[in-house]
Amino acid sequence: MCAGQHTTAGLRTTSSRPISCQVRGIGLELSNHCVLIKSRTEFWDLGHKLFRSSAASFPATFIPADLLDEAQISPGPPSSDTPDLANLSSLNQLRGHVTVIHASALFHLFSDEKQRALALALGSLLAPVSGASIFGWSTGLMEAGFIEFETSVSHPRQFCHSPSSWEALWNGVVFPKGSVKVEARVRGFDHDVGVRLKSGLPPTRLDWIVRRI
Ligand SMILES: C[S@@+](CC[C@H](N)C(=O)[O-])C[C@H]1O[C@@H](n2cnc3c(N)ncnc32)[C@H](O)[C@@H]1O
Repeated sequence: MCAGQHTTAGLRTTSSRPISCQVRGIGLELSNHCVLIKSRTEFWDLGHKLFRSSAASFPATFIPADLLDEAQISPGPPSSDTPDLANLSSLNQLRGHVTVIHASALFHLFSDEKQRALALALGSLLAPVSGASIFGWSTGLMEAGFIEFETSVSHPRQFCHSPSSWEALWNGVVFPKGSVKVEARVRGFDHDVGVRLKSGLPPTRLDWIVRRI
C-alpha cells in the first residue's frame, strides 16, 4: 500500500526558487504549487492519517486520476489557458504547465507498452521551458528486460528499462531527439528492500532524470 511510502523531494521551479514538499503519490509542481496524483482516493486519506497531516498542514492539491486512462490524460499540445487547480475537469488542462514531475516507483508497475504510454502522457504535462524536469526511480537492469520476484510482491513480473532504453524512450519518442538531456544509472538499493528475484539476487533500480534543454 502506497499511502505509507513517504518520499521527500526537493522540487525546484524554472525560476530556481526551491520548494520542499512531501511526495506521497506522483508529484507535480506548477507555479510553486505541489500537485499529487494518485489512483486511489482512500490511500491519500490514509496518508494524512499515517503522517498526521491535514489539508492545512500539507497544502498540496490532490487529484485522484488514472494516468493510463486516455479519457483523463492523453498526449497533446500544451493547454493555452492557465489551469485552475481547484476546478480541473481533465488532467489535459495541465499539459505544458508543469515544471517538475516526480514519478518514483511507478513505471515498473506497467508493461513496456504502458510505460511508453505513461511517459508520453506525463511528458506532455512538462512545460516547454529549459530546465523543466521529470525524475524518479524504477526497478532497472543494465540490459532492458523482465525481472521476476521470488518473494510475494504486488507486481511479481516487471519490465525493466536499462539506461540506454530509457534514454531512447525520452530522447526521441516522448520528446524530439536532442531536446532533452537524460541521465539514468542502475544501482543497488541503499537498504535491504526485503525481496529477492528468482535469480536469488536483490533487485536493482534505475535512477533517472529527464531535463528539457
Ligand atoms: C509504489 S507507489 C510510489 C509512491 C511514491 N512515488 C514513492 O516513491 O513513495 C506507486 C504510486 O503510483 C500511483 N499509481 C499507480 N498507478 C497509477 C495510475 N494508473 N495512475 C495514477 N497513479 C498511479 C499509486 O497511487 C501510488 O501512489
